[in-house]
Amino acid sequence: MQTIQSVAEMQQWSSIQKRSGRRIGLVPTMGYLHDGHLSLVRQARQECDLVVVSIFVNPMQFGVGEDFEEYPRDLTRDCALLEQEQADVVFAPAVKDMYPPGYSSFVEVEGEITTKMCGASRPGHFRGVTTVVSKLFHICQPDLAFFGQKDAQQAMILEKMVRELNFPLKIVRVPIVREEDGLALSSRNVYLNPQERQEALVLSQSLQAARQLIMDGERDVEKVKDFIRNIIATSPGAQIDYIELNKADDLASLPRIEGKVLIALAVKFGTTRLIDNLLVEV
Ligand code: PAF
Repeated sequence: MQTIQSVAEMQQWSSIQKRSGRRIGLVPTMGYLHDGHLSLVRQARQECDLVVVSIFVNPMQFGVGEDFEEYPRDLTRDCALLEQEQADVVFAPAVKDMYPPGYSSFVEVEGEITTKMCGASRPGHFRGVTTVVSKLFHICQPDLAFFGQKDAQQAMILEKMVRELNFPLKIVRVPIVREEDGLALSSRNVYLNPQERQEALVLSQSLQAARQLIMDGERDVEKVKDFIRNIIATSPGAQIDYIELNKADDLASLPRIEGKVLIALAVKFGTTRLIDNLLVEV
């Protein structure tokens, strides 16, 4: 496995591989890898000739007062894990190489898809994501790019960006990986103290219970939201950011529950904001 830090070198490597006809799979990450990331790498390994994993904590997608400085980082450990998964390249650029002084170019997907849910609580976040991912696509030139369903809104926005800006690649969404007790894997789980870790189980539990309620015939969006809110309220430390039910293909609002629905939650436990989601089809 090779580690490349320079943007120019990475772009040159990708161009050479493309010319030789090899299929490149890209797994964009911010590092501090867990099994959720590794499931993306495994899928990329199965579907592509070459696997590039980018590790870049992207300052542009963090708002003022968010955890950019504290975001967990451990490149040595990440590289050891990726070596085991037989990744070909770790691309770990420096901030000043990605955003040199005077940098002022951005990629933005507009509309409801980026302004609701995490877009409402984290203004500018998705502009940071679409900008950095566009840059990574140009630099790494993947045929396939792998993203987790845990960040369902992010995956949906990136799919729209790829479609509308004609990027010559396909996005592959990989299912959420959970701990045995249901907590969705996230690099931010390390911030949770034992009490918060226990309370955070209400995320997956309320999603499962909501799915059952819908399967039993409930079709009223507000009633399902109230039902989830009441379950989350049983955790004294939980502060709800949002509970949303939207159309699963474009996040459009739903007058009633029908078709493919994304139930999505963002809840804070102490200072740690976690997200989770579930797809239901009726
Ligand atoms: O999902 C993430 O880890 C990040 O948003 C991504 C896609 C790597 C862009 O920085």
